[in-house]
Amino acid sequence: MTDSAARPRPGIRFTPVSGLSGTDRRMAAQGLLPVLGDLHMLWLKAHAVHWNAAGPLFRAVHAQTEELYRGAGAQLDLVAERIRALGLRVPASLEAMHELSSIPDDEDEPETTTAMIGQLLRDIGTLCETVREAAEEVDEAGDKASEGLLADILAFHEKQAWMLQMLVAEDGPGTAADMDDDDADEDDEADEDDEADEDEDGDGEGDEDMDDEDMDEEEGEEEDEEDEEEEAEARLRPRP
Ligand SMILES: [Fe+2]
Repeated sequence: MTDSAARPRPGIRFTPVSGLSGTDRRMAAQGLLPVLGDLHMLWLKAHAVHWNAAGPLFRAVHAQTEELYRGAGAQLDLVAERIRALGLRVPASLEAMHELSSIPDDEDEPETTTAMIGQLLRDIGTLCETVREAAEEVDEAGDKASEGLLADILAFHEKQAWMLQMLVAEDGPGTAADMDDDDADEDDEADEDDEADEDEDGDGEGDEDMDDEDMDEEEGEEEDEEDEEEEAEARLRPRP
């Protein structure tokens, strides 16, 4: 994270009316900055899918990604304004915004619309993690307003992830997600890898913990095309 936003600058000063101490306001605002970065990156990448999608799902993907980028754009404004209300400055350069974001600036554009959606779902998952981390920081700072804002952002993007997955799911009635991974948060990455390995031999359909990299390594080079398909599908499954 860049520290430039927190640096004092000459200009018009104001006193935030919040009952929070200066230390708490700074902690809350700095906690929000990575959310700002992720929202900005997701806003841009949702546009790219909106523009570049093609094929039978075009109209649906075009409309769904518009909903996503409009929502992310509105939230970007709300988060930036909250940061200002707390007393910090908001980054004003693309470089600073990129530094704040955990979402990768992918250079290789996916070749299929399904793969584009898979990448977008991965990015939404990253944003949701960032929002959860920010929620802990603003909670620690006692910033109730930011807590509410982050809760709304999280709910919106979890819904977007569900809708995008259903958009590219095979035809049929919607089923409940696997709820047997309640302890997923407590598992470390190694545990999740083990689970993916086990599931690959068994009920691959219900496997929501499948790790893309594991799949690539184990399938072998001769099945690259199949790997690509499976990788895209794995991304469409709900994250724990
Ligand atoms: Fe448009």
